[in-house]
Amino acid sequence: MNDNEPTRLLPVSVWITAQQTSRAQRKDRYLSEATKHPARMLPAIAAHAIGRYTKPGDIVVDPMCGIGTTLVEAAYLDRRAVGIELEPAWAEIARANIAHATGRGAAGSGQVFTGDATMLTELVPEELFGQASLVLTSPPYGPGVHGQVDAVPGGGVQKRHDRYSDSRDRRNLAHAGWHGLTEGFSQILAGCAVLLKPGGYVAVTARPWRANGSLVDLPSAVVACGIAAGLEPVERCVALLAGVREGRLIGRASFFQLHSVRKAIGAGVPQALIGHEDVVVFRRPRTSKSSSAGRS
Ligand SMILES: C[S@@+](CC[C@H](N)C(=O)[O-])C[C@H]1O[C@@H](n2cnc3c(N)ncnc32)[C@H](O)[C@@H]1O
Repeated sequence: MNDNEPTRLLPVSVWITAQQTSRAQRKDRYLSEATKHPARMLPAIAAHAIGRYTKPGDIVVDPMCGIGTTLVEAAYLDRRAVGIELEPAWAEIARANIAHATGRGAAGSGQVFTGDATMLTELVPEELFGQASLVLTSPPYGPGVHGQVDAVPGGGVQKRHDRYSDSRDRRNLAHAGWHGLTEGFSQILAGCAVLLKPGGYVAVTARPWRANGSLVDLPSAVVACGIAAGLEPVERCVALLAGVREGRLIGRASFFQLHSVRKAIGAGVPQALIGHEDVVVFRRPRTSKSSSAGRS
């Protein structure tokens, strides 16, 4: 059985999530410091997933919450959000973003724990165990898509905000290598299974990236991580990063994506721009057989 086999026959739906640019989606809703994070989720993807898999008052968890997109969108939709983030700087911005949202009338709430989500069940209070309706998260992915550019005097561009942290702490799965990333992410999902209600959902957004010209298939690895954590794959969705106008896709690729695809094509390697995120959706099984997933 190859890695794609478990999801080959799953229902697929397309989420229209980029009718506005990322900047327009965040305008006034997020603090400007949030743009320092190299890999934020598109707010419309978070809002779509929360609307689809939960109802007002439900608990939504993001174990790798970055600057808090999941938590802010959950708060706007009157959910109770809980986030975990390893890097104190991002956790601080996530808290500030939630305070900003509630100050603008968001009816829900958000709480952020700073720490290593591979130890999830030791970080959050036990009263949360078995209570969450949805885990929505995104693991770190390829450095090629990150960063913003500024023009420099005299010509050329300078890259900034392309790193998750200044440290090389290997607890940060962005610095853990492929094996560390998949092993750590499986552990995180196993901890999430403990927080979920039986039948609760896990939605993971991920994109493939290229390393030395070869495709690194993170979405399929995510499927394997979820299964290893005792979760059941139930859907594989396409969340558009491109707008749709009159039946056509309007690309919104970054400078780096355009640059690397043009370079590859120039070198004779046929590559296309990525216009979507994969969203891999799992459920915590209702049966007692797997309901202890993640407990040691
Ligand atoms: C792709 S980003 C998520 C961004 C987030 N969805 C947002 O919109 O801001 C992944 C995040 O996981 C964090 N992270 C990496 N390893 C972690 C770990 N072991 N525990 C908790 N967070 C971790 C990174 O610091 C990074 O902020």
